[in-house]
Amino acid sequence: MAQGALPGFRDFYPPEYADRAFIMRAWREVARRYGFAEYDGPPLEPLDLYTRKSGEEIVGQLYNFTDKGGREVALRPEMTPTFARMVASRANALRKPVRWFSIPQLFRYERQQKGRLREHFQLNVDLVGEADVTADAEVLACAVQMLREFGLGPTEFVARVSDRDLWRARFVRQGVAESDLPRLFAIVDKMERTPPEVTVKKLESLSISTNIIDAIFAFARPMTIDEFLDGFGGGSTMLESTKRLHRYAGYLYNLGVYDFVRIDTRIVRGLAYYTGIVFELFDALGEFRAIAGGGRYDNLLKASGGPDLPAVGFGMGDVVLGDLLRSRGYMTVDTPGVDVWIAYADDQSFAGALKVAADIRELGISVEYSLNRPQLARQLKVAGSAGARYVIIVSPDDWRSGKVTFRNMLLGLQGTMVHTALLQELASRVHLGDRLRQDLWFLGDGNPAG
Ligand code: HAM
Repeated sequence: MAQGALPGFRDFYPPEYADRAFIMRAWREVARRYGFAEYDGPPLEPLDLYTRKSGEEIVGQLYNFTDKGGREVALRPEMTPTFARMVASRANALRKPVRWFSIPQLFRYERQQKGRLREHFQLNVDLVGEADVTADAEVLACAVQMLREFGLGPTEFVARVSDRDLWRARFVRQGVAESDLPRLFAIVDKMERTPPEVTVKKLESLSISTNIIDAIFAFARPMTIDEFLDGFGGGSTMLESTKRLHRYAGYLYNLGVYDFVRIDTRIVRGLAYYTGIVFELFDALGEFRAIAGGGRYDNLLKASGGPDLPAVGFGMGDVVLGDLLRSRGYMTVDTPGVDVWIAYADDQSFAGALKVAADIRELGISVEYSLNRPQLARQLKVAGSAGARYVIIVSPDDWRSGKVTFRNMLLGLQGTMVHTALLQELASRVHLGDRLRQDLWFLGDGNPAG
């Protein structure tokens, strides 16, 4: 039996590849509109890039090994440490704010489950050099637009927003050690998918007292912005955070994405480096895992050996998004197929067919023909099953007078025309790009195809 891919890894046959390309095309288009430039880094990095920066959960999922030169290395499980390293090492030369995006393939040795594989492609959008919430709003608006681009609306997905500073202000005051915060966030991050008694046990292992544990359970919940402002105005740091969130909400309103946003203090993010506002995008029915996650990480650039620059960004994977688009009918991918099939009436016409194929490919139109020189009827059948929209038939008599037959497969109409005139016609339409495929062009004198 043929061997399959490793568990958690995917083979992309052309239909699956077409879905992947459909998603990435939209991502690139929105990133361009928001003024982010594309970059990439190496898929293999020094192991300590992650052991120092990412936090326990990701480190436990690393694909790491010792290379032949004795270096400890790991396949990248996330892009942010690479991004921080790249920006840090050229920080002074880069125009601020730095607005970059990337679509790396990432590797995590996860327990395989719905929406979680061992490799995925992840859009990363990051902005460095602006500490104000204007940058947080810009990045969240971009994340929301990434989903709207496919047709998803406010009844279909939500952005759940919170602020790690609120947690810090609320609980460090009450006696949780600052150094325990990363572990507290890792526990809160899992709360929704963990039975309460397990969460309590985990919190107790951080020596958090029962009344603080009760306060944590009461604090972590969804709320409206008004409810939030009423409830969390007290205390000077709390007041700072709430004021900031209020301004942030205003910008989100102006950017047209307010309808997608909910305050939800259960969102803290699992990675260690986040410092301020954090967010995750979920489908509104709660059927799937997080579609995207991100937030502010103001200390990572400095920790990567660079200058002290504030940063904010997010990652959006292709797995959950693909599942969601398919389940809601938004994966509207054109089935792969060639534009034009060249058929030849007999062996004698084969040379002419090759010439026609070469001429039309020169125009940027996709062309295929039968390589094994079967009968014409067979060629036409193959053209149909290959999804060709148009067929050009080269036959000896026509070809002698420089003509070919052009057939529109969808309309079932065909006509004979001079080859050079046909090339001109096609050249005048090819600028339509992808629309060429939907364009029901009809050329020639329009007889029903026999
Ligand atoms: P993350 O929350 O670990 O964040 O991943 C972001 C998104 O990538 C998730 O919401 C999910 O859609 C997808 N994802 C993560 N792991 C898997 C997996 N095993 N299988 C399928 N999809 C997955 C980060 O990685 C941050 N570095 C994002 C970031 C960029 N923060 C700031 N800038």
